[in-house]
Amino acid sequence: MPIFYNPEIKIFTLQTQNTTYQMKVGDYGYLLHLYYGAKIGENDDLSLLAYPLERSFSGNPNEAGYDRSFTIDTLPQEYSMFGSGDFRSSCLIPVNPDGTREADLRYVSHEIESGAAAPQGLPHVYDNGGEAETLKIHLQDPVSHLAVTLVYTVFAARDAITRYAVIENKTTGRVELEKALSACLDFTHGDYDVITFWGRHCFERAVERTPVRHGKIVADSLRGASSHQQNPFMILCDHDATETAGDCWGMSLLYSGNFIAECEYDQIWQTRLTMGIHPHAFRWVLEQGESFTTPEVAMIYSGEGLGELSRRYHKLYRHNLCRGQYKTSRRPVLINNWEATYFDFDDDKLVKIAEDASKLGIELLVMDDGWFGKREGDTSGLGDWFVNTQKLRGGLDSLCRRINALGMKLGIWFEPEMISEDSDLYRAHPEWCLRGPGRAGVRSRYQFVLDMSREDVRQYLFDVISGVLSSANLEYVKWDMNRHISNIYSGALPAEKQGEVYHRYILGVYDLMERLTSAFPHVLFEGCSGGGGRFDAGMLYYTPQIWCSDDTDAIERLSIQYGTSFSYPISAVGSHVSAVPNHQTGRVTPLATRGIVAMSGTFGYELDINKMTAEEKEIVKEQVARFKEIYSLVSDGDYYRLTDPFKNTNYTAWQFTAPDQSRALLNVVQVKMEVCPVNFLIRLRGLNPGARYCVQAAPLNATQRFEHEGTVYTGAALMNAGLLIPLLKGDYAAVQYEIIQL
Ligand code: DGJ
Repeated sequence: MPIFYNPEIKIFTLQTQNTTYQMKVGDYGYLLHLYYGAKIGENDDLSLLAYPLERSFSGNPNEAGYDRSFTIDTLPQEYSMFGSGDFRSSCLIPVNPDGTREADLRYVSHEIESGAAAPQGLPHVYDNGGEAETLKIHLQDPVSHLAVTLVYTVFAARDAITRYAVIENKTTGRVELEKALSACLDFTHGDYDVITFWGRHCFERAVERTPVRHGKIVADSLRGASSHQQNPFMILCDHDATETAGDCWGMSLLYSGNFIAECEYDQIWQTRLTMGIHPHAFRWVLEQGESFTTPEVAMIYSGEGLGELSRRYHKLYRHNLCRGQYKTSRRPVLINNWEATYFDFDDDKLVKIAEDASKLGIELLVMDDGWFGKREGDTSGLGDWFVNTQKLRGGLDSLCRRINALGMKLGIWFEPEMISEDSDLYRAHPEWCLRGPGRAGVRSRYQFVLDMSREDVRQYLFDVISGVLSSANLEYVKWDMNRHISNIYSGALPAEKQGEVYHRYILGVYDLMERLTSAFPHVLFEGCSGGGGRFDAGMLYYTPQIWCSDDTDAIERLSIQYGTSFSYPISAVGSHVSAVPNHQTGRVTPLATRGIVAMSGTFGYELDINKMTAEEKEIVKEQVARFKEIYSLVSDGDYYRLTDPFKNTNYTAWQFTAPDQSRALLNVVQVKMEVCPVNFLIRLRGLNPGARYCVQAAPLNATQRFEHEGTVYTGAALMNAGLLIPLLKGDYAAVQYEIIQL
């Protein structure tokens, strides 16, 4: 039983294998947060961590009379609320029927249930059976009667706790929510750094670490998508936390739209993290009896540094968030025609690519943008999901049969949420765009956004996409989204509900994804948004892999994939070998290096294989065979970041270790060749210290010989003394070592 309640001291203790979360029903019924960190006993009473003390300019509840010691302005709160004395960041701002902007939530009751809770219509971490227990704490404002239920699910073996809130209008009239966040996490002590993940198109999830300072540090998106620019994930850690040591707390939002993640450092050096839907341009109307459910946050603590924090997220998301047959079965090695042909392709060209690819062991051809409507470039066609028979002369089924005859699967690209002005759909339904009355609308990549909050729009998309998927043996879908949302307005909603449109849009996307993934369970869905613009835990619930970035340069990918790995499993990272000179950077990297980098992901190719030399094709064949062989190590193994590409610009190294420690894979890319180089001494991690391991270079490196061939070391030697990587020749050279227990 991971959830304990001690009625005498009114303390809730949530236990996972290595962590404890504690809260208390304090004076006057306020729910106070006490502790989140390394494991303590369920009978430990940490009430003193929330010791009341008089604070000037901090108010006191009226019931306290003239006792000035109790103030929710400085005591740690479980779900901070506006208007009743806490001047720090609030989770909840309601406008009550009488116009007051105030919530004063007090404990009413609680219940404990087995299994995981599921926020309605939203992605969530789930229980595979007997893994989870849920606590629901009911709070209510005694004056307005607005009710809030805080829902916590404990995944003990995964060291994870998820939480969300349900706000129910039990008042006498209409309530409008101006802010309804998912979670608040207060720390009464500590000296911390905050880590956020920022970026831009082709440069996603760069790691930014900064000391917490008085005031607020915010990561957010107002783009209608979780975005390339900031990711809905935040880490708080000790100043001196490293990959292998120190306290770290992660908060990951399972949501793909506007979000805010905020770290506030208050007047008495206390830290508050809050996370949820961004309150800007948000206003949710709750009629009497209606309720609003926030997205879920997954919280993980690690006392063993950032590496362990990431590994815990990887396991949670691999086993309890990703779904479908490809959660466990091996994903096909694919070849995508985008960088090979862009819009300039036809069925014969695709078959020719597939002919060469199939001989090298590649299993899936993905037909990217351009197969439908009038789509010769990116100015037209979106919305018209009908086969362009000038390109696919025999139709989709015929193409599919030709690809299947080569022993390959066929996949297809959609951008369901978008519409081109030059499309039959736009001509028939201009009112289906998000756009205010009388406004022409902002174009981005020449396109507008469909109003996904509308049921009729979703029904059209479901019918037309289902029609395509049923018309041929299609086994993969790439779901793209290539612009952000402006002109937010839905023609289907009254003026007073326009503050709901951003969130209703995301609920609509989730609804359509749920319907399509359920209707086509054999299809592998890959998420995408101009690369990794919607790489978030919400999307992972529907698509077990997401295209990580439109930047396919192997050297640039080192830092993009590094940042992505902090919260998302390697099995989710869409990564391909592309041509050189690289289309985005012009950089020329060896094929072996491109292979090694792409293998730390879902693995595939994105180039014109027909243009490769016989020698290159041999290398591709070797890489494909190699990836299939190491697949389980990459997708289920423990991932270790051995260097930080933002700091070490000479080389980047990372490792996978099998859960039973019998095998590991060490990858090293030399980013910069120097005449008189620094030593590349790499200490491995996660091995069995007493076991003996044989070290050998993987066959991928046929062109270079490496020392350590067949040398035997103990795990202790490899982890403490380390491996000295021999000099690699040339910029961007790479090596992959296999470490096998004898
Ligand atoms: C953006 C994606 O990230 C690319 O891979 C490609 O699918 C293009 N869109 C097609 O328009």
